[in-house]
Amino acid sequence: MPSSTDAANHNARLNLSGKTAAVAGGTQGIGAAVGLRFAQAGASVFIIGRNEQLGQDVVKRCRAEAGRNADGRTFEFIKADLSSVNEVKRVAGEIKAKAGSNGIDYLVTTQGGPPAGKYELTASTPAHDAHFAVQTLSRFGLAYLLAQSGTLKDTWLSVCAPGGAQGPPADADDIELEKPEHRNRWMLGRIMGQGKQDGALGDAMAVQFTKHFPNLRSAHLFPGYVFTNAPANILPSFILPLVNLGGPLLARMPFGNLAHQYAEVPVYVAANPLARGQGLEFCNERMKPLGSPKWAEGEVGAKVWERLRRMIEE
Ligand SMILES: NC(=O)c1ccc[n+]([C@@H]2O[C@H](COP(=O)([O-])OP(=O)(O)OC[C@H]3O[C@@H](n4cnc5c(N)ncnc54)[C@H](OP(=O)(O)O)[C@@H]3O)[C@@H](O)[C@H]2O)c1
Repeated sequence: MPSSTDAANHNARLNLSGKTAAVAGGTQGIGAAVGLRFAQAGASVFIIGRNEQLGQDVVKRCRAEAGRNADGRTFEFIKADLSSVNEVKRVAGEIKAKAGSNGIDYLVTTQGGPPAGKYELTASTPAHDAHFAVQTLSRFGLAYLLAQSGTLKDTWLSVCAPGGAQGPPADADDIELEKPEHRNRWMLGRIMGQGKQDGALGDAMAVQFTKHFPNLRSAHLFPGYVFTNAPANILPSFILPLVNLGGPLLARMPFGNLAHQYAEVPVYVAANPLARGQGLEFCNERMKPLGSPKWAEGEVGAKVWERLRRMIEE
């Protein structure tokens, strides 16, 4: 069965000079590793996230990867809290202005993290459920605005949790899971509900994106287990030493990777011509194609798209 090592082998001679990638959620974890891999392959890179120090550090490492080939290339950090729709719009405008008429070739969205089982509204106006605002709405907003303005030229790839052809449909009538039967669930129940909805909404967005922008590609990938700092955002601090001990071991399992190992997969799927036509647009960490969900092409997918579009445009 293929793995991230196969993606690395395919990417060994990948030359992305003249190309540009924007990575949202690029200050750490999977996103940072994807940004660095794009820089190694010769691309210009925009890194987007909240943490200035981590973001500038990734940019510095991208420049170091570029070495003598850094001339004429852009490595920039764009600081933004993407839980706010206004910030999503500002970032899309900033990327458009900075990238100029060449635009960007690849948008990779990895921002957010696993559901924490809470229903909490963002402080921004309009307010949305905080997890939904980052995990779904900000990803849609960046892709939609960059595609609509003609800035995105090639592929939008999101890393989350595709259900693929076998996955359940999204709840398009309660997109933020606000109804009492969702809001009042016990924590584990809500975590499971949010996880399922995140995956299904990601699938719907990816399928509908290519319907609305037929000249562009989209992909939604499941990373399996990748050892990153993500558990620190949801788990109580007394469990973290255990996670930090066990995490590198899990990363050695067949379903696991370290961030730099896994980064080969999204770079392969988004940017390597060898990956095209292989059904990898919905795939897992072992590059097993998961198929495209039929429900996302019909009424439910269209409803999801329309709701998200209105949230961004109104
Ligand atoms: N790691 C895994 O095993 C795994 C498994 C399945 C799915 N996933 C999914 O894959 C994605 C990436 O995971 P990861 O492990 O790389 O997570 P991570 O290490 O926690 O990184 C998350 C990134 O999102 C950014 N982010 C979070 N909230 C943000 C906000 N409000 N505005 C802007 N940026 C924000 C963070 O940057 P700042 O803090 O600088 O804002 C960070 O760069 C997540 O969606 C996760 O759910 C991961």
